Amino acid sequence: MSKPLLEAENISVAFNGAEVVSQVSFSINPGEVLALVGESGCGKSSVSLALTRLLPPQAQISADHIRFHSRSGSVDLAAVSNRQLRKYRGGGIAYIFQEPSVSLNPVMTVRSQIAEVLELHGNGQGDLDKTIIELLSQVGIPDAKNRLKAYPHELSGGMQQRVMIAMALAGDPELLIADEPTTALDVTVQAQILELLDSLRKERGMAILLISHNLGVVSALADRIAVMYAGRIVEHACTRAVIDSPFHPYTRALLAAVPQLGRACGRLQTIPGMVPLPSEYGKGCRFAGRCQECQKKCLESSPVSIEIRPEHFCSCFQVEPKL
Ligand SMILES: Nc1ncnc2c1ncn2[C@@H]1O[C@H](COP(=O)(O)OP(=O)(O)OP(=O)(O)O)[C@@H](O)[C@H]1O
Ligand SMILES: [Mg+2]
Repeated sequence: MSKPLLEAENISVAFNGAEVVSQVSFSINPGEVLALVGESGCGKSSVSLALTRLLPPQAQISADHIRFHSRSGSVDLAAVSNRQLRKYRGGGIAYIFQEPSVSLNPVMTVRSQIAEVLELHGNGQGDLDKTIIELLSQVGIPDAKNRLKAYPHELSGGMQQRVMIAMALAGDPELLIADEPTTALDVTVQAQILELLDSLRKERGMAILLISHNLGVVSALADRIAVMYAGRIVEHACTRAVIDSPFHPYTRALLAAVPQLGRACGRLQTIPGMVPLPSEYGKGCRFAGRCQECQKKCLESSPVSIEIRPEHFCSCFQVEPKL
């Protein structure tokens, strides 16, 4: 098996003393799509931004290591200086976010925004317009030549998200972090953007960390899924295993809340209760307060991740290994 592209070990993030991400570990192979899934507030964005220290200054980030084995050599992103890290932001690792209308600069044309990224990462040699038109065509923008001078407000939400993806590609990333990339779009455009991401990873061999609160959205694209709850990864396996044989009660509850996944029909279920606030995380399992299988032990200590089946990890006292 090839060397992973990224190996993150024990990432923790705290804001004002409250830990919002606790010892999260994962790896991503070259060309692979790993999905990070969980409800709002569980720390998905914080994990992804911690990789390149893009969090606000009050965030305290720690990690044993964040090894990035890029084309230009291996580096521990957790150990490099801020100056060195800048080279990897947008270059080796690029981000796209939920709201293209917020991320794009409203007073700059499509051409200038993409040109800026190309130049920043040293990819601006040769005929700049030609490179930009190629990028816009790659992300499925029709009549790309005539869109160069367009401003973001002249484009639909779906087209704006395609421009965001073109900007991300302009840094020629090996890892694209897509944080809720389709949440702001209507359902048909969502499907088109997911298809585009899938074709780009195939064409470019680019890995993707796909972040979503919706297991249904990620299951078509992801090779593996890591389910996050209240700052921790509670289950982690290949997509088929998570969808067909989920072990963690939280994963099962998330699946029951997705239409047409795991069941042919029936009523959709909501998960009773709310994700606790980081200040309320106790010493027990963080899901205990909402878990129908909760027992005394679950309130007293926190379950560690165990390998239930080969390459299928779960942190729950009620789940026995089936190796
Ligand atoms: N800048 C900040 N200052 C203080 N707390 C923050 C900050 N950013 C995030 N948090 C807190 O950290 C926790 C995790 O937030 P994060 O945005 O990473 O979650 P998320 O899973 O990405 O949620 P969503 O699905 O809503 O995007 C939340 O409790 C949030 O309130
Ligand atoms: Mg988020």
